[in-house]
Amino acid sequence: MSAKRIDGKAAAEAIRQRVAKIVPEFAARTGRPPGLATVLVGEDPASAVYVRSKNKATAETGMAGFAHNLPATISEDELLQLVLDLNADERVDGILVQLPLPKHIDATRVIETIDPGKDVDGFHPMNAGRLATGLPALVPCTPYGCLHLLKQELGSLRGLDAVVIGRSNIVGKPMAQLLVAESSTVTIAHSQTRSLPDVVRRADIVVAAVGRPEMVRGDWIKPGATVIDVGINRIPTDDGKGRLVGDVAYDEASEVARAITPVPGGVGPMTIAMLMRNTLVAAHRRSGLKDPEGL
Ligand SMILES: NC(=O)c1ccc[n+]([C@@H]2O[C@H](COP(=O)([O-])OP(=O)(O)OC[C@H]3O[C@@H](n4cnc5c(N)ncnc54)[C@H](OP(=O)(O)O)[C@@H]3O)[C@@H](O)[C@H]2O)c1
Repeated sequence: MSAKRIDGKAAAEAIRQRVAKIVPEFAARTGRPPGLATVLVGEDPASAVYVRSKNKATAETGMAGFAHNLPATISEDELLQLVLDLNADERVDGILVQLPLPKHIDATRVIETIDPGKDVDGFHPMNAGRLATGLPALVPCTPYGCLHLLKQELGSLRGLDAVVIGRSNIVGKPMAQLLVAESSTVTIAHSQTRSLPDVVRRADIVVAAVGRPEMVRGDWIKPGATVIDVGINRIPTDDGKGRLVGDVAYDEASEVARAITPVPGGVGPMTIAMLMRNTLVAAHRRSGLKDPEGL
């Protein structure tokens, strides 16, 4: 059996087009486009690439972008002041502070300073708590993108056994909350989980968010399972350029699974699409409008 390749790029493009269609409607009603502020501190090359892509997507969807590129030497107080200024700026609906931050800055303090209504990354404890208690929240983009792909693939997730490997605040924990809300039966696995292959073998849905290249092998996968690979790992190649692989051994797992996301081209593009979606939703909620439909 060869699994269906879940096309995250196409799904992400559809979301971005839907956002781009609603942006002018929002602007016509409120007199301004939705706005996203990105904050990049320092010169980490991977972070710079991510933030550039986010700024580009913001422009392509017709939203207003406010890019703040700051030196790594900025003090914590200066960064907190910028966040407070963005909280107060009426043109700004979403604030994204790219992580990781330099070591001398307390990332938790920065996240807790963002207005929860503008927290389009969904990392503020208020949004995490609202997600956990089933209240409307801004949901972290990557797990929300994974959920979108799963629902597109499977329809209802009710009663399915799901195993989420990884318990980070950014991916694993919110992913598990989203699956519980869909009435899946959820197991969260992590580095201390015993007999991980046996745990994964029970799953109808596997979400791997570990950061270990191809750790999940084909013989861990239950025949017919749906596999979402969040991992992005660069492994060395002979030509020195390196190659991106996920947390799942794709070829092996494809022999057993029903459907699987590739790396790249699976979950990755969904993250930015969901950031656009979250910014549009935040703009509607801040303006007292109903959430946009079809997103
Ligand atoms: N596609 C995207 O847009 C996107 C977005 C975010 C992240 N990612 C990728 O997703 C991966 C995970 O990201 P993250 O931020 O969640 O990472 P993280 O904060 O490092 O968390 C990794 C999780 O994996 C668990 N883990 C580590 N080794 C394990 C093992 N041998 N067996 C089982 N579990 C193990 C850890 O367990 P403990 O808690 O016990 O340490 C932890 O909960 C990374 O490759 C990252 O690059 C992709």
